[in-house]
Amino acid sequence: MKLLRLSLCLVISLLFAGVHAQGQKQTSNAAIEKKIDKLLKKMTLEEKIGQMCQVNISPKATEVPQKIKDAIRAGKIGSILNAGSPDMIAEIQRIALNESNAKIPVIIGRDVIHGFNTVFPIPLGQAASWNRELVEKGAAIAAQEASEVGINWTFAPMLDVSRDPRWGRIAESLGEDPCLVSELGSAMVKGFQGETRKFAACAKHFVGYGATENGKDYNPVFIPINQLRNVYLPPFQKAIETGCATVMTAFNDIDGTPASGNEFLLKQVLRNEWSFKGFVVSDWNSMTQMKSQGFCADDKDVALKSANAGLDMEMVSTTYTNHLSALVKEGKVDLETIDTAVRNILRIKYQLNLFDDPYSGLPNNVTTLCSQHKQAAKAIATQSIVLLKNQDQLLPLSSNKKIAVIGPMADAQNDQMGCWAMDGVADDVVTPLTALKKQFGANIKYAKGIADCRTNDKSLLSEAVNIAKLSDVILYFGGEDAILSGEGHSRAFINLPGAQEELISTLAKTGKPIVLVIMAGRPLTFNKAAEKAAAIMYAWHPGTMGGEALADLITGKAVPSGKLPVTFPKTLGQVPIYYGTLRTGRPANWKMLGIPTGTPLDPVGLSNNYLDVSVLPAYPFGYGLSYTTFKYDKLKASSNEISKNKPVKIQVEVQNTGKVEADEIVQLYIRDEVASVMQPKLALKDFKRVTLKPQENKTVVFTLTADMLEFIKRDGQVTYEPGSIKVFVGANSQELLEVKIQAI
Ligand code: NOJ
Repeated sequence: MKLLRLSLCLVISLLFAGVHAQGQKQTSNAAIEKKIDKLLKKMTLEEKIGQMCQVNISPKATEVPQKIKDAIRAGKIGSILNAGSPDMIAEIQRIALNESNAKIPVIIGRDVIHGFNTVFPIPLGQAASWNRELVEKGAAIAAQEASEVGINWTFAPMLDVSRDPRWGRIAESLGEDPCLVSELGSAMVKGFQGETRKFAACAKHFVGYGATENGKDYNPVFIPINQLRNVYLPPFQKAIETGCATVMTAFNDIDGTPASGNEFLLKQVLRNEWSFKGFVVSDWNSMTQMKSQGFCADDKDVALKSANAGLDMEMVSTTYTNHLSALVKEGKVDLETIDTAVRNILRIKYQLNLFDDPYSGLPNNVTTLCSQHKQAAKAIATQSIVLLKNQDQLLPLSSNKKIAVIGPMADAQNDQMGCWAMDGVADDVVTPLTALKKQFGANIKYAKGIADCRTNDKSLLSEAVNIAKLSDVILYFGGEDAILSGEGHSRAFINLPGAQEELISTLAKTGKPIVLVIMAGRPLTFNKAAEKAAAIMYAWHPGTMGGEALADLITGKAVPSGKLPVTFPKTLGQVPIYYGTLRTGRPANWKMLGIPTGTPLDPVGLSNNYLDVSVLPAYPFGYGLSYTTFKYDKLKASSNEISKNKPVKIQVEVQNTGKVEADEIVQLYIRDEVASVMQPKLALKDFKRVTLKPQENKTVVFTLTADMLEFIKRDGQVTYEPGSIKVFVGANSQELLEVKIQAI
């Protein structure tokens, strides 16, 4: 039976690719534009406006509400999010294609963020794999599973560069760095859309949402144009270049103009500078929220400002439905503006082949949660887990050890999936407890120790201490419950919540070595627990197969290779803390970094430091250990000059100096020493994952091109300036070899 399901899964995957190929044949650009011309001529103004409206169906609905059926018939709905069961979706498409005048299929959207029924690690975890191929594959699988129930559009990837761990949505992000976010975001777009686009991706939230002030969700942001151009916009530009079909506007403003009414962003940047040909959707009520933001007087003003700014489709709120027609009749919104928006939407519907195949043509739920998908989820979970500490090589553990498995995340099927996993199937989640029992059998004793991550109730503590005393080693699985991260779930404290620190302290008193496994949606501060632990693994919320991935790493069947996609602070007072800051005029003296956290033992002022905590983070961007060690040596540039037509090869020797085969993520950074606009002190430019056998030495080569040295001026001009460039290669943003070249 298993074999049958596996081969069915393979066959359907091929079929899916085949459908893609067919879709492509029918979608030459000119042919599509002609079809759109023809259709637009047939459509009334009301039907055109209908295409610009997206409605939500309540999750409780078991059939399509009559009101929505009537609206589809009348051509008043272009898209539905959360459309319900496959039967409901089939009904929606049947009405749209057979019973409406214009016969336009509905595009069905959903938040397919990190997997569908098979849940992959949260995006921040996936980013820790630094693995473009696995990230792409994960998105492709999510798209395939979602397509099978009639969904044709995901609201992902989230491309918000995120530098504040208080923000709950950092979990959904790909981290703090524009290059890493661009590379992995583009991989996700490729994965979701496939070669020939049967499923649409959505680059969100355009733009700057990740800079939400003090990490509180929905706050305003303060982003200077230089930062906007060089930090926050590049991942979106890369997604558009990759062919991303749609873009979602952010809730926040940029310099006083909310994104959903921002002509500069939606026309100047997206259409004029980047030639974007897909459509723009608002976020959920982000248009009507412009009233609370004090930018619009009423709903009619909202519709006016959004339509004229270039926002094509309204999510959930109804200002287009209610006011756009009057605004056109009053001459305040041109018919051409409406036609352009509808053209953008229809173009994507044609490219998705929805007119010919609105149901995606696949049998329902055939490949979902199949073993191939689970293995892919396990592969990326394994590569996303970051080893932060491994004193005296405590890990991996041998199978004859007596193990106390303790903690609220040891057997938490729901929480392990993390935020935005509403289609995840909890029963299919393999927890660490289940997976470890398979490997260690009767040597495992389990006690929860605390009911969930955030409770202060200590009534379960003594049971945990009792089993700890009987063991050789304690595996503590804690962190954050899924509900503590995600949208609207920001935290003002980012420590291990609840009574976890106390539990860990009490366990440490048994004298047994502790392996701390943290599952969380953000970087947490956990210095005290870290001091008590002999080994630490950061597992994010690792998804359906997280338990198996962890068990393989703990037992040494797999070797850790994840690296942090975001800087981990020692303490909240350091936030925001990220490696690519602009440079200060008074750099701190690195020699005085030994001041213990929170203790101003040796206050030294007048430089870029705190009195009471080191300038260093707890763990830097790019950091992660292995069960082996790597030696970097002989960094060389093929020339000491780089120019527009002359890239430079940067090569380094990386040797596995330990006893096990392992992957290393080799990172390339630069520093532009002097420029007409201040540049970051370090900027990631490329990275490679290499596999090295014990003692093997590999030469890793990067190609540094002049465009990697470019930056964008305030007016959008791409600028290349001659001058001195430092090039760095290493294992993380703090351990780097360096070589100097000249840009000419
Ligand atoms: C609001 C969120 O900000 C957005 O990311 C999501 O896609 C929409 N809701 C739809 O659920």
